[in-house]
Amino acid sequence: MQPTYDLVIRHGLVATACETMETDIGIQGGQIVALGKGLAPGADEIDARGKLVLPGGVDAHCHFDQPMGDGLKMADDFLSGTRSAACGGTTTVIPFAAQIQGESLRAAVADYHRRADGKALVDYAFHMIVTDPTAAVLNEELPGLIAQGYTSFKIYMTYDDMKLDDRQILQCLAVARRHGALAMVHAENTDCIAWLTEALEAAGHTAPKYHAEARPMVVEREATHRAIALSELVDVPILIVHVSGREAIDQIRWAHGHGLRIYAETCPQYLFLTASHLDNGYEGAKCICSPPPRDKANQRVVWNGLSDGLFTIVSSDHAPFRYEGSDGKKPGGKEVEFQYVPNGIPGVETRLPLLFSEGVRTGRISLNQFVALTATNPAKLYGLNPRKGTIAIGSDADIAIWDPEKQVTITNSMLHHNVDYTPYEGMQVTGWPVTTLVRGQRVWDGGEVVGSAGYGQFLPCGRPDMARPKVSDEAAAGHYVGHVPDALRQLARSTHA
Ligand code: URP
Ligand code: ZN
Ligand code: ZN
Repeated sequence: MQPTYDLVIRHGLVATACETMETDIGIQGGQIVALGKGLAPGADEIDARGKLVLPGGVDAHCHFDQPMGDGLKMADDFLSGTRSAACGGTTTVIPFAAQIQGESLRAAVADYHRRADGKALVDYAFHMIVTDPTAAVLNEELPGLIAQGYTSFKIYMTYDDMKLDDRQILQCLAVARRHGALAMVHAENTDCIAWLTEALEAAGHTAPKYHAEARPMVVEREATHRAIALSELVDVPILIVHVSGREAIDQIRWAHGHGLRIYAETCPQYLFLTASHLDNGYEGAKCICSPPPRDKANQRVVWNGLSDGLFTIVSSDHAPFRYEGSDGKKPGGKEVEFQYVPNGIPGVETRLPLLFSEGVRTGRISLNQFVALTATNPAKLYGLNPRKGTIAIGSDADIAIWDPEKQVTITNSMLHHNVDYTPYEGMQVTGWPVTTLVRGQRVWDGGEVVGSAGYGQFLPCGRPDMARPKVSDEAAAGHYVGHVPDALRQLARSTHA
């Protein structure tokens, strides 16, 4: 008999952000074309009995091959980064095309395409990082790039070579509002960090553990509140990235209580690591990231925020630097003061298994919440749904088939990134993706990487509905729109809306 489908996945338990059901999946031309029991034969078949069949993960915050100054280099490029993603059940990644101060944003995007071309095993989109919002960037480059499918950008409130002041942030948020993009905000108060760092250095406190003391929770809390206020003033939603604990969460809860569209992201490091991981001699540098991991009490608050819906997405913030060598955690091959250690930790491959094991299996979050947080919501937030992030007829057949009982002790040697350590060394998890499909093709199967470099496609993003301002909704419904000044009402959205 002539096969009806290219591939049929049979007998699995399929979960989306809303439903869990026993159904077969028929795949044709890289898309899901049928759901139902007893589907006609496929040219290829996967028996998923006893397995979970989930949308492939969308990791909406990872850094691959981002240009670095000072002789530093990210350990993962688009090949090793997306290979590692695939082996952990992730089928779409969104890394960052970063503008270098003094350079054009368009040039950064073009350069980032050259870095990605021909290398990726899974599909990818780009966020932009805006570090130099000149008039040309604000008036020409950003609007043009947003129209071409780069519909999200990150702005920083810290790091000397990246930070924007409040006026610049307002200017960027106004562009996001007008052109329908989503702004992601790294919220830490840069002057507080500089002042604390100076004091710590003067006292001779330069070991990696002092990184956490230089960036206490109040520094994140203040910047989170300020970012929320700036978003309210411009009347545009924002995403607060890598939220680390209670005090920042309190600010976001306050914003939600006031009807503001503030989205929040957290990462496994704030659920599984604490500041004590930095207190390990120079090896503590392996866990230096910003904001720093906090303590067990804060971990519990972050878990609560996942279960009660405060968080929209969980991303890895994979920022890969090797521990040994001269271009990573030991710049120039030396053990340096904490403020010179490049920030970031690897985690693109472990994001989903860690969250599944400690989140779903323990009952802290449901399987459907897991799918929402790690696949469906990031796809929606960045204008990639319904093509990505769900299992539905017409969606890309991006699927992770999980063995929910597989017991794994995480070691760096089993991972597929190009970093020489994992912060999660020795942790035991239950549940791991055994097969990952991107547009119906196996890229990870039975413990082997079977995808090829260059199969992954670039995805232009739509303007996300979730980036819609509030006032336009309310004004459209004829409601009073509060204290928003008239000047802002004139900051109309462009015609795309
Ligand atoms: O420490 C971190 N998070 N490094 C990566 C860059 C960023 O701020 O996301
Ligand atoms: Zn950041
Ligand atoms: Zn990051």
